[in-house]
Amino acid sequence: MLVVDLGGQYAQLIARRVRECRVYSELVGHEVGAAALRARRPHALILSGGPASVYAEGAPHVDPELFELGVPVLGICYGMQLMAQELGGRVDRTGVSEFGRTPLRASQGALFEGLPEEQSVWMSHRDSVAAPPEGAQVVAGSPSTPIAAFEDPDHGLYGVQFHPEVVHTPHGMDVLKNFLYGVAGAPPAWTAAAVIEEQVERIRAQVGRERVLCALSGGVDSAVAALLVHKAVGEQLTCVFVDHGLLRKDEAAQVVETFRGALHVPLVHVDAQERFLGRLAGVADPEEKRRIIGEEFIRVFEEEAEQLSGKTAARAKPARPPSGVAKSTPPIRYLVQGTLYSDVIESGGTDGVAARIKSHHNVGGLPAQMEMELVEPLRLLFKDEVRRVGEELGLPERMVWRQPFPGPGLAVRIIGEVTPERLEILRDADAILQEEVRRAGLYRDLWQSFAVLPAIRSVGVQGDERTYAYPIVIRAVSSEDAMTADWARLPYDLLETISSRIINEIPGVNRVALDLSSKPPATIEWE
Ligand code: XMP
Repeated sequence: MLVVDLGGQYAQLIARRVRECRVYSELVGHEVGAAALRARRPHALILSGGPASVYAEGAPHVDPELFELGVPVLGICYGMQLMAQELGGRVDRTGVSEFGRTPLRASQGALFEGLPEEQSVWMSHRDSVAAPPEGAQVVAGSPSTPIAAFEDPDHGLYGVQFHPEVVHTPHGMDVLKNFLYGVAGAPPAWTAAAVIEEQVERIRAQVGRERVLCALSGGVDSAVAALLVHKAVGEQLTCVFVDHGLLRKDEAAQVVETFRGALHVPLVHVDAQERFLGRLAGVADPEEKRRIIGEEFIRVFEEEAEQLSGKTAARAKPARPPSGVAKSTPPIRYLVQGTLYSDVIESGGTDGVAARIKSHHNVGGLPAQMEMELVEPLRLLFKDEVRRVGEELGLPERMVWRQPFPGPGLAVRIIGEVTPERLEILRDADAILQEEVRRAGLYRDLWQSFAVLPAIRSVGVQGDERTYAYPIVIRAVSSEDAMTADWARLPYDLLETISSRIINEIPGVNRVALDLSSKPPATIEWE
């Protein structure tokens, strides 16, 4: 299924919903011509909504021949209006806008097959279709929009004014399924298993007999990417896990145990804690910390890559090279990167723009000068799909559903200089917090939950003794995408348990505080 993006905030959501119906879908720009679309051999097309009026200057249009491809086309909101305008209907600014929940009456039509005649839908439009395309029949209306849906099965044209892709349209998924399965005849065959099969083939075709390198961070994206590549080319893959010593309690051991132990993926565990702590000594400035960690990460990774290349050559050519011949070692040619479809869309690369290493603030953003070819097996997947693929590949639940964790790790959760003592305290406090949040069944509901250690001390009393110790701050937020976040209303009982356990079990902490800030104006992390 190709979703033609007409500039709406909803286009990406439509693509995701279609995939939730187990039909593979991709976004394409509206300027893509009909011939290019035909070459993709889609089952059908969906024209997305868009913010513009069809009469506005510069309003997005589509190649009219797209309606002649012989595959059904569903226009949604602006997409529907564009169809009407292009195909002999009429679009008017009626003076009546509809925003929000609206009752809809649909008594016929393939899109509404099996659905109640009356339903509630989500509308968001100013212009309305005043006459459907020639030959199309009106199949649904709302109180202020008599033409809320039309169908012309003979020409494969379908339009809905409302948004079936949003959750506020309770039967929206049914409408989409009717279009996908009933009208377009697209089978619900796109499953995690199918993704794995397809990616495995692609990876094999791309890398052949060459060796592949992957930087594992412990996060779900790099883990799933690595597993896919391992499934495809087995021991040709080597994973490098740069352990900067800023991970949470037992996390490094978990990565090693899962990959090397349970999944039998060749893994080089680089214990670089001392290097990182050495470079971080005396540094309290947040940006400086990030810069140092990013730089050191790249340095360590490059050193490992070089060494591994050397090892490869040594194994391939056991004989000593004749004297006078440079001992050049063939570098490992391929590098796995866990780029997601949302990154691809954000960088405007939906139409197959060449892959390049993301210049990301993240640790794990790898050096461009390595000049390795990228293997990006998650390039077409959304985050929730990556998780499903991870589950299917046997990645443990704990890793599949891990909350996001910043690349620079606990260094940006210690406010002030990072020292081994503070790291240990923060790790222990964080472990208690995680354990209790999981026990309360809230881990998956929260976007993130973690402990922060501001390196100040305050006075307390324990037994008969005065203490002078660190506070721990509890930070828990709900969010959809980390762009905005709200502080989570954790139950008092849970807060109490976390607080008393942290204070009682961790020497060096005598106070627990709760962060009640939303984003904006605060950020999720403290640094
Ligand atoms: P802020 O603190 O800006 O964070 O509200 C938004 C989200 O991004 C995560 N984050 C990072 N992730 N590398 C990452 O991979 C980083 O350097 C980094 N800094 C923040 C943060 O945990 C939150 O989910």
